Amino acid sequence: MNNFIFENKTKVYFGKGGVKEYLGSLLANYGNTVLLAYGGGSIKRNGVYDEVTAILHDAGKTVIEFSGIMPNPTYAKVQEGAKLARDNHIDLILAVGGGSVSDCCKIVSAQANLDEDIWEMQTVKHALPNKFIPLGTIVTVFGTGSEMNNGAVITNEDKKIKGALWGAQADFAFLDPTYTMSVPMKQVISGAFDTLSHAMETYFGKPDDNNLSDDINEAVMRSTIRNIRVLLTDPENYDARSELAWASAMAENGILKIGKVTDFQCHMIEHQLGAYTNCNHGAGLAVIHPVMYRHICKDGAARFARFARNVWGIAPLSNDEATALAGVEALAAFIKEIGLPTTFAELGIPADSDLRAVADSTVLTAGCCKKLTHDEVYEILQECK
Ligand code: NZQ
Ligand code: ZN
Repeated sequence: MNNFIFENKTKVYFGKGGVKEYLGSLLANYGNTVLLAYGGGSIKRNGVYDEVTAILHDAGKTVIEFSGIMPNPTYAKVQEGAKLARDNHIDLILAVGGGSVSDCCKIVSAQANLDEDIWEMQTVKHALPNKFIPLGTIVTVFGTGSEMNNGAVITNEDKKIKGALWGAQADFAFLDPTYTMSVPMKQVISGAFDTLSHAMETYFGKPDDNNLSDDINEAVMRSTIRNIRVLLTDPENYDARSELAWASAMAENGILKIGKVTDFQCHMIEHQLGAYTNCNHGAGLAVIHPVMYRHICKDGAARFARFARNVWGIAPLSNDEATALAGVEALAAFIKEIGLPTTFAELGIPADSDLRAVADSTVLTAGCCKKLTHDEVYEILQECK
């Protein structure tokens, strides 16, 4: 195993009723003014907004609202939030929503304390912020695992880049699976597939030999696959929802990455597809993954064969290459089985989208068995049509 340093500072309150039980006392640790951040309004329809605002008011907090954070949050929205936070001397940001709300708030938390532009700071100067407004999250849809890390994915519309920025990591995160009961099933499944994607992008990183992280990862992948299937036949199943909620956090809280260099090439392609088309993240990954893996699995046949055996239960075929490909086809069949799109047409990507520009602006990673070129990314995108 490679050397590593590991720390995860987020305190997790997992399970039914956690917000009611613990949020009030937690608020005592922070100043008076709270920025309550949320998305397009689902929290007003499912009762979460009422529950949280009542607790904030009981705790005597002054609440400033930052609403309308869109899926695939934009850099302009980050700047709007940062101004609001600065103008109101915010003491705590409370992000209530999915990955988009959480990501936007991580960067708001940093930008509010900076005189310079955080995009330029990170992408040009390669410097990181170190002063943050404290952040807490209440997760209402699972998949990104954003709640236990400091990474954020922000769409810079002017530059046509959907890219990673580093911001605040939440002090605390409430993971209550009952909050997800109102999420449309399509989103629940695309979120859960995002979890599976994070696990795969880590599993196919380096080194790909004997590694405890990979053994744990296989369990996370099997659990995610099993519980997606449970939810499709029994959508209200709390147990399956809670397993998926924790798998989501586990796939992105750093534990599976211990001792490894991760890959995330599929994410890099999907993010640029998102920059050009604003597509749904998990659904975009579902289209790209099998196509990309068909391109590379021969170069990492032993690892892909292990994925086939240990994750999909495929008996070894005549050689590793054949077993590897069978594993990729099992993944493709699973994507179809759970109703995720398998082509860009099904995903709703306009036929005249500029896939050449998507390919050319994709960050190329070297964490997997094969480093792709921009031309190969373009071929993959063409095959996704
Ligand atoms: O905006 P509202 O009205 O709340 O509706 C949201 C949104 O339309 C809805 N929703 C959330 N909770 C709900 C609910 N609807 C009903 N009931 C509830 N309880 O779900 C929709 C999607 O929300 P969003 O936050 O966009 O989804 P997700 O959590 O999948 O986040 C996606 C974003 O996270 C980024 C993605 O690229 C994308 O921008 N990612 C962040 C990562 C990270 N920080 O670690 C890693 C990921 O790989 C990913 O890239
Ligand atoms: Zn993802």
